[in-house]
Amino acid sequence: MIKRRILIVGCNGLLGQALAENFSRNRGDELLLASVEEKFVGDSNFTYVQLDISKRSETKKVVLDFFPDIVINAAAYTNVDGCEDNKELAWNINVSGVKYLVEGCRVVDAKLIHLSTDFVFDGMKGPYNELDKPNPISYYGRSKLGSENEIKIGGIPFAIIRTNVIYGIQKGVKKDFVQWVVENLRIEKQINVATDQMNNPTFVNDLVDGILLTLEKKRTGIYNIGGIELISRYDFAVKIAEVFDLDKILINPILTSQLKQKAKRPLNGGLIILKAQTELNYQPHSLEENLKHIRRNFGS
Ligand SMILES: NC(=O)c1ccc[n+]([C@@H]2O[C@H](COP(=O)([O-])OP(=O)(O)OC[C@H]3O[C@@H](n4cnc5c(N)ncnc54)[C@H](OP(=O)(O)O)[C@@H]3O)[C@@H](O)[C@H]2O)c1
Repeated sequence: MIKRRILIVGCNGLLGQALAENFSRNRGDELLLASVEEKFVGDSNFTYVQLDISKRSETKKVVLDFFPDIVINAAAYTNVDGCEDNKELAWNINVSGVKYLVEGCRVVDAKLIHLSTDFVFDGMKGPYNELDKPNPISYYGRSKLGSENEIKIGGIPFAIIRTNVIYGIQKGVKKDFVQWVVENLRIEKQINVATDQMNNPTFVNDLVDGILLTLEKKRTGIYNIGGIELISRYDFAVKIAEVFDLDKILINPILTSQLKQKAKRPLNGGLIILKAQTELNYQPHSLEENLKHIRRNFGS
């Protein structure tokens, strides 16, 4: 097998860490990990470089020095409400940062695999397929659509992977929904969860599998990679309580509007994964299997 040079950007995040672990375990590729923090939060044997993608010269230098065949961008400003308050920062990272990665990829002839979201849609008629017309209703969604557009006009080979509600446990990242539910119910604290937000939550390991399949099959264009079940956030919380043997009575059903969040959320969101299933043979595990896996492995 020819050794590929792979740059993973945003390696300290929920997805980035899972990608780093996977590539290090299974493949003979040459890896370079990069993220905005001083150090990699995982195994110190990895080669890591500090990189703020919103800085053009820094970003291009990292790409040109490493000369990758493939760049996987899992870096983003992902705080959806924060994006409403910090629009310039959100644009600098989520759009300009991606533009600088594209510029680097163009010089070294690398393929860019980039992560996007169902938040590019308005949530009026989800779940969405790859051909549906985006219409973001939050600044985060606008910036992620901006990132997609930078890539499409960038003149490089690319795959845009849209996903939604990633769950999984990693070091030092913001708690995912599963951990939040489990930790609260364990101390018998009531939680309010929306009944009117629909998604197909995506286990981070399934997402990594989907990304690897697009790479192995040398696919380009947009692919939706998500979980199998389209489910409300409330039903997701109930499922978590069941698998972790916790008291679901503590979960209060409410409407999204009652949460008074700064950014609007697409309500009928989620992604149709048929293209990935048929073209890539993407086979995500069921929610129950994944939650049991998390319970076994992380004891949370
Ligand atoms: N999580 C979800 O439910 C979800 C759903 C749909 C799509 N996505 C997309 O999937 C991708 C991965 O999401 P995730 O949940 O793994 O995100 P995450 O945990 O927030 O990780 C993102 C990583 O990027 C880093 N980063 C932020 N600004 C940077 C910069 N200027 N330069 C370099 N690195 C920077 C972050 O560092 P700091 O933490 O220090 O800022 C963090 O380590 C993102 O593109 C996201 O938009 C996520």
